[in-house]
Amino acid sequence: MKAFRVAVLANIRTNAPVFEGMSEDQWDDLDSESTVESLCNAIREGGHEAQFLEADESIIDSIRNYQPDICFNIAESHFGDSREAQIPAILEKLQIPYTGSKVLSLALTLDKPMTKRILAWHGLPTPEFQVFERVDEALDEGSRFPLFVKPSREGTGMGISGKSVVHDERELRQQLEIILSKYKQPALVERFIKGREVTVGLVGNLIGPVAWRVPRDENARRVQAGLTFLPAMEVNLDPSMTVEGVYGNYLKTALADQLEYLCPAPLTEDQTDELNWLAAAVFRVTGCLDVSRVDFRLDVEDNLKPYILEINPLPGLMPKLSDIVIEAEADGISHTELVNMILNAALKRYGMIS
Ligand SMILES: Nc1ncnc2c1ncn2[C@@H]1O[C@H](COP(=O)(O)OP(=O)(O)O)[C@@H](O)[C@H]1O
Ligand SMILES: [Mg+2]
Repeated sequence: MKAFRVAVLANIRTNAPVFEGMSEDQWDDLDSESTVESLCNAIREGGHEAQFLEADESIIDSIRNYQPDICFNIAESHFGDSREAQIPAILEKLQIPYTGSKVLSLALTLDKPMTKRILAWHGLPTPEFQVFERVDEALDEGSRFPLFVKPSREGTGMGISGKSVVHDERELRQQLEIILSKYKQPALVERFIKGREVTVGLVGNLIGPVAWRVPRDENARRVQAGLTFLPAMEVNLDPSMTVEGVYGNYLKTALADQLEYLCPAPLTEDQTDELNWLAAAVFRVTGCLDVSRVDFRLDVEDNLKPYILEINPLPGLMPKLSDIVIEAEADGISHTELVNMILNAALKRYGMIS
């Protein structure tokens, strides 16, 4: 195996800017030093050289200094509507290969309503929704409570708690006020899906020709060649741990190591096939590359019908705790192997290995 110089590009939480009036969860989606170190070590174990570079404005200089063959990109970046696309945009300008999804897909998938419009166009199941830019906008006709209110462009459960479930107009307006003022972005209001919480990780890239479209015929053979699906993981949202069964910010951060993760999730083979197919379809229509994790809710009031909540093209890679790492481990794939699977998917895509 050829050895490459790999720069790990990430934003470490303790390096993030501090500013007046920032909220307590401002940098919850950034990475820890130890996660970044574990990525560098994994890449070294894969036989390469690795060096962490903080993905801020210094990145152009530090990349010119280090001269990587490829970057392992997990940078979420700090500011802006399409912040996750900023580092890929710079790397394309510099013509440096990088792992993971590219500019358009990262900008798209950070924006949940935009992503849902694409999913809906392709006939993929995602909860019905409406976007609010003002607290007093009229609710669409036919919307029925309970509804779910969340920021349009955040992750790691930011802005999400038991209060996100609203039961009447008064609660809706209250929650809209909180989300609009705190996150300074439109609020996404969805039908509340009462159900089980399942997420599916996948690594690799679709191989044509069938993968170049989403078959419309339900019974068509669902070809997903090139992708490796990890076993689905379910978070046990026991009522004793959660309010209204919501996997919000507090659970995802402060209580992450106390939750019960069921992996593989207790699902039938047909249900697993369905989720894998949907995950591949979302990956395809959003143009993602190398790795992603797709979050679902299974509607307990409708035969566990799966609804797509979002796709995460930069899934957390914290050893032992991140969802996709837990999924890999359930399949006998170590953190080191998972990281190298992602790197190899990119190297292959660029024709740097065969
Ligand atoms: N429409 C919905 N119905 C029920 N629960 C939801 C809905 N949307 C989000 N949630 C809950 O909030 C959590 C986080 O939502 P998600 O859209 O995945 O945002 P994040 O980017 O923060 O992970 C979900 O895992 C789920 O528990
Ligand atoms: Mg999610």
